[in-house]
Amino acid sequence: MNPTDRPRNCLYRDIERVVVPREEIAARVADLGDRLAREYVGRELTIVAVMTGSLIFLADLVRRLPLRLRLVLIAVCSYPGKSTASQGPRFELPDADWAGQEVLVVDDILDSGQTMAALVEAIRSRGAAGVRTCVLLDKRRNDLPDRREPDYHAFTVDNEFLVGYGLDYDNLYRNLPDICVLRRGEDLP
Ligand code: IMP
Ligand code: MG
Repeated sequence: MNPTDRPRNCLYRDIERVVVPREEIAARVADLGDRLAREYVGRELTIVAVMTGSLIFLADLVRRLPLRLRLVLIAVCSYPGKSTASQGPRFELPDADWAGQEVLVVDDILDSGQTMAALVEAIRSRGAAGVRTCVLLDKRRNDLPDRREPDYHAFTVDNEFLVGYGLDYDNLYRNLPDICVLRRGEDLP
């Protein structure tokens, strides 16, 4: 935890510990952006970003990409309200022209992989030329051997519920600059 934030940011009262501090996030997101910039150099890219969790990651990542790219934001809801277990992904893809496009799906975290699998399948079935996946966090799920790994990720994390840098609990804590574990409490998971 950045000690200078503790007195100023009341959100830290609900935080048990910081898992990835902001400096480490910035460094790894920059490296990931540079890698993607090399891989897609000279090509046009459509980024499908899963809202709202990927919002902050996306904003940092795309500014590292000196490419012609289009952004498509889609809302996927798997954890309505105070759920901390996925209720299954629900989303609608816009009626864009997907045929022949190189698509990169960006999300905050790959947990069960259901969200990504459903999105990749939906985009492929609309005729995209290639669909790859990119997440900030890859959750260790040794219990799911058939889960499809992301093509790109910044960090691997333990299987625990995280908030901050876009990740939420009940739509709160997205604005925490660090990735954190919540303190257990009455209204917390
Ligand atoms: P999956 O479909 O199980 O891979 O879940 C992915 C989605 O669930 C992500 O888009 C996140 O929004 C949400 N999610 C999974 N784990 C966490 C977490 O630890 N904190 C907050 N959101 C999470
Ligand atoms: Mg999400």
